[in-house]
Amino acid sequence: MINQQLLPHKFEIYRSKNYLDTANAIKTMIVRGAPAIGATGAFGIAQAALEFKDDNLDDFKEHIEKAEKILKSTRPTANDLFYAIDFVRNKILNNFNVENAKKDAVKFANEYADWNAELCRTIGEHGNNLIKNNQNILTHCNAGALACVDFGTALSPIRIAHYNKKNVFVYVDETRPRNQGTSLTAWELAQEKISHSIIADNAAGFFMKKGKVDFVIVGADRIAMNGDVANKIGTYEKAVLAKENNVPFYVAAPLSTFDINSKTGEDIPIEERSEDELLYIYGIDENKTIKKIRIAPEESSAKNPAFDVTPARYITGIITEKGVIKPAREEIMKFVENKNAY
Ligand code: MRU
Repeated sequence: MINQQLLPHKFEIYRSKNYLDTANAIKTMIVRGAPAIGATGAFGIAQAALEFKDDNLDDFKEHIEKAEKILKSTRPTANDLFYAIDFVRNKILNNFNVENAKKDAVKFANEYADWNAELCRTIGEHGNNLIKNNQNILTHCNAGALACVDFGTALSPIRIAHYNKKNVFVYVDETRPRNQGTSLTAWELAQEKISHSIIADNAAGFFMKKGKVDFVIVGADRIAMNGDVANKIGTYEKAVLAKENNVPFYVAAPLSTFDINSKTGEDIPIEERSEDELLYIYGIDENKTIKKIRIAPEESSAKNPAFDVTPARYITGIITEKGVIKPAREEIMKFVENKNAY
């Protein structure tokens, strides 16, 4: 996996040796972003299968269930993690021998990853139809190829529009406290030579009020059946500002992000992360060494919810691999029931 902790300063591939290492990579956000966490979970189950050295099927099932529990305990909010692990687990636990189960684990983890990448490419195609030439788009956090297997969700339409020679400009929310906008989204857009500027999270309202933002596209970590959407902390504020300023607000997400067990946003678990993410900041010094610097008084503590829930009433539409759907129970039920593959 690409080590996202080191970007934009270093591009390194992190090689996870076993499923415990993979679980740690998810927890510490070497890999992050809902679809990417999902695919990583799928491969974590495959690693666990390959690490099993015996041929006793019952012991194998027990081993897989233990790995599943550990991988699912890494981060609570992104539905893709649970969707992907359940997918591979269900495929391999029906086997009659361990050798077949191991082969199936690798096969279905790879199939899951390819399927999810294709969903994100298709989201890009549908989202591209919303984008006109010379439009300004605001995005929050990183919902790009780094956060997925490929293409991205919110960044996928922007990529496809750019590939189709449309002139787009992106306002990139820095996305405190971990700065996924500054360090990851800006990096992806720079790699693609897509025009963009990083803005302070608090400046989004300023640019919307000035009429500089044609619409907002963000990703999602979990979507409830009534259309409420959990995404990176700060997304809710952007949605309220967009409504106040009549700026269309789109969410882009594949099937794996929809949670049939969450009736409303109230049912979505919100991750609380370490206060250090607010009290310290990372960057490179004059010797290009990545440094951790304290920016808060020693006496101060911090509260750090990692996600918030945007109620459906603030969302213009959800861009899925099936096209744009309304954030409403009926359309969402039809979408999840009419699933196209797994
Ligand atoms: O804490 P992170 O960086 O994993 O949060 C990621 C987000 O909130 C993304 O917007 C979301 O996962 C969608 S990624 C396509």
